[in-house]
Amino acid sequence: MAETDLIETFRAAGQGQVFEYFSELSATEQKDLLTEAQEIDLGEVSRLKRELIDAAGEGGLDLEGLAPAPYESRPEHGGDAEAWAEALQLGEAALRAGRVALFTVAGGQGTRLGFNGPKGTFPVTPVRSATLFQVFAEKIAAAGKRYGKALPWLMTSHQNHEATVAFFEKHACWGLDTERVRFFRQGRMPALDGDGKIMLSAKGTIAMSPDGHGGSLRALARSGSLDWLESQGVDTISYFQVDNPLVRCVDPTFIGWHLRRDSEMSSKMVPKAYAGEKVGHFCQQDGRAVVVEYSDLPAAMQEETDAAGNLRFIAGSIAIHILDRDFVRRLAEGGADFALPFHLAHKKIPTLDASGAPVNPTEPNGIKLEMFVFDALPFARNPVTIETPRQDDFSPVKNAEGVDSPDSCRADLLRQYARWANANGAGLEVDASGLPVVKFEVAPSFGYDEASFADQWRQSATPISIVDQTILA
Ligand code: UTP
Repeated sequence: MAETDLIETFRAAGQGQVFEYFSELSATEQKDLLTEAQEIDLGEVSRLKRELIDAAGEGGLDLEGLAPAPYESRPEHGGDAEAWAEALQLGEAALRAGRVALFTVAGGQGTRLGFNGPKGTFPVTPVRSATLFQVFAEKIAAAGKRYGKALPWLMTSHQNHEATVAFFEKHACWGLDTERVRFFRQGRMPALDGDGKIMLSAKGTIAMSPDGHGGSLRALARSGSLDWLESQGVDTISYFQVDNPLVRCVDPTFIGWHLRRDSEMSSKMVPKAYAGEKVGHFCQQDGRAVVVEYSDLPAAMQEETDAAGNLRFIAGSIAIHILDRDFVRRLAEGGADFALPFHLAHKKIPTLDASGAPVNPTEPNGIKLEMFVFDALPFARNPVTIETPRQDDFSPVKNAEGVDSPDSCRADLLRQYARWANANGAGLEVDASGLPVVKFEVAPSFGYDEASFADQWRQSATPISIVDQTILA
């Protein structure tokens, strides 16, 4: 679109403020602003203003018929041991056949951690200080070796795209075949003020931010990544978040449950640690699977118990899924009735005041619009949810300190290593929380889950002794 036409379209849509300082900008700045403006779907922005801002306070979540979602309990909690064993076989066969790829969402801004750089470059392990990206790369390499088929790995990013790619190049993808690692950018959305006006972060820059992890699904299609997967015979996508190094990203049993049920989207649940835990809840409504955020589920429902005294809404979401490739394609191409909704979040957005001077707000002053991956669930055929032990799958690095911080995550990694080692007779001393007295590390090349660790341990020619700072690799 010609420059003047684009500016006129913004004016006609009531968004002329985007070009308020246009005449003050250099030719390059003008070009950059126009390029950014072109990314914006003004029709979508005005629809979201109507639906999310103008209608704020109306309705809220419809609780009619909302019930806890069924899930597959683990065998030790009464689940069907035969079905779990069958799932393992199926998943292993799919891995050996090369049907599975990994998909990491790493396009977030990581504001709570406050780390300078892509979150995946954060050093997380207790002895080697291996970064999140390195841990995943090593798990993927080890699993590829175990099943005799290299696993393709997809990653979405945005603001940090160049830095992410450069980091992988610097580390030569930790030995993974570079042809099988693919990066692509997710979409962005402009921040809006309370009147639905697009905000500027500087005179020549629109306040844009990534469109949420849900945006990564349409980006998978738009970037040609689904075709790329198809050309390699992959139909099953293992989805996880960049901030969770405990994740069993290559989990044959989970893959097997997904395939066994001919599911389009599968999920892992952990039993909530306590009624008010801040996780999404797996529910169902009108025969469809939904995840209801803790902020949307009334406290009384969060606390409801069944006849045995267990929480009714017990299934917490930990953002780990398996997605069917063609389901993602259908979602991306599906049009308005088959699209993920946007959610609105009030945030502090650096911007300009009326005189054009920069403002760094101390209170939320604008709205960010994001899509969430779990909103794909209601569209999925045969969604299946399985139980997983939290200690083996979930310990995210979200905050700089306290809960879900680097410290809590490192401690969880140490507990996991100690459990694996002690299950094989290492006899390590641990405290009441399972934390070993010695600090050591298990590199994924030695073991990336209980089974691979046990195999490696047994194969060792000499007895293994673990002391402070030992690295098993
Ligand atoms: P979070 O919701 O924890 O957001 O993302 P964040 O941006 O990493 O951190 P804060 O909220 O700013 O502190 C969960 C996962 O989803 C990815 C993140 O990279 C992380 O793996 N994500 C989030 C995206 O890929 N794109 C997004 O637009 C948002």
